[in-house]
Amino acid sequence: MYRQGTARGTETAWYQGWDLTENERATFRATTIASQQAKRQAIAGECTASKHPIYSPRLDPLDLMPRLHANGLSALSLFSGGGGMDIGFDRAGFGHVASYEIMEGAAAVLRAAHPDWTVYGGDSGDVRRVEWGKYRGKVDVLHGGPPCQPFSNAGRQNGALDVRDMIPEFVRAVKAIRPRVFVCENVSGLATKRFEEYVKSTIIEPLERQYVIRQFILNAADYGVPQTRRRVLFVGFADKEEAARFEIPAPTHRHDQSKGSGHNLPKTMGVREALGLPETGVDALSPTLRSGLTGPRHTTSVLSSVSALKLWNKLGVWPNGVAVDRAAASGYVAKNGDFRLSLPDCLVLQGFPGDWPVQRPVYFALGLIGNSVAPPMAYNLANAVAKALCPAKL
Ligand SMILES: C[S@@+](CC[C@H](N)C(=O)[O-])C[C@H]1O[C@@H](n2cnc3c(N)ncnc32)[C@H](O)[C@@H]1O
Repeated sequence: MYRQGTARGTETAWYQGWDLTENERATFRATTIASQQAKRQAIAGECTASKHPIYSPRLDPLDLMPRLHANGLSALSLFSGGGGMDIGFDRAGFGHVASYEIMEGAAAVLRAAHPDWTVYGGDSGDVRRVEWGKYRGKVDVLHGGPPCQPFSNAGRQNGALDVRDMIPEFVRAVKAIRPRVFVCENVSGLATKRFEEYVKSTIIEPLERQYVIRQFILNAADYGVPQTRRRVLFVGFADKEEAARFEIPAPTHRHDQSKGSGHNLPKTMGVREALGLPETGVDALSPTLRSGLTGPRHTTSVLSSVSALKLWNKLGVWPNGVAVDRAAASGYVAKNGDFRLSLPDCLVLQGFPGDWPVQRPVYFALGLIGNSVAPPMAYNLANAVAKALCPAKL
């Protein structure tokens, strides 16, 4: 069971803003008013800067995850968010059992994308309320990315003291369902020394008698996603032979941070190339996109750090005030003239299908994108799991 946190800002649900001081609130309010005014002026044509053209992306993330034939295996999704993991498993040929997600708005996106899926949202999607025994013996893979805020470098790293820590709930589901494989994903902060004891006592010890567990880190850029995005994975196999057959998915692409081998692999595109922007002689992977739902307040910025800002500046791309679509971005030129991102651009940078039905408000859509596992990374992982489970078929 989770414990109630005591540190400031961790007693609220993960998707609510932190409790701010009056001064902090006033500063944020002033910034919001200034940018809303600039946006209104731009839309009213009062902006002196010229529009930037609407560019067509060169990267189609679906090319990174060609749909495979049904493999006869089933996957149940917990903490499904906007569906990054679900897309990866679906395109790798897994049957979709159900998705559980507490935010009704996120569940609505999954239903809109896949009316044929069983999606539980809101109270009925709250994993704390579910009796998982009904799925026992019916699920090959149970996957989930419990909220990462308790462990994220961008947060306060209160771990188990944070009310948002849902990893024990994931473990409860694994124990009740006993899938052949579980896949648990989180921010790489969870793999640091600070959380070593937590990982041992909360994930490894409760499950190691029934599962052979592997822990490793994957970077989405190794699978063609134009973004540096590292995630830690815990993959557990109930069967020892299947566990021995499992291989961590090898990179399918090389990029500016690739080390050693892989020279023959296709190159992961940089931000400018992926979005189809004109060449400037400078291109690179996108810094990790931050979620619009985390941090002190909801935001339409994808900026994750000071070093990220330097990189965005070099790329000539403006990471704040993301626009709802490319037409809106083109008419609302950033103060410094840099290219303004839109939601469809962020989908591409995260490896989502360009038409994935995330919608306004922009901060919420960015929350789903920035919280997700990049689908091509999930796809390669799903494939590696499928190969270990039924090697003859694949
Ligand atoms: C890191 S995101 C998961 C992203 C997802 N794996 C993907 O690839 O898009 C964590 C999700 O857990 C959801 N969540 C948090 N508490 C929950 C609960 N008690 N029951 C169900 N979902 C919950 C959040 O709303 C959030 O969407």
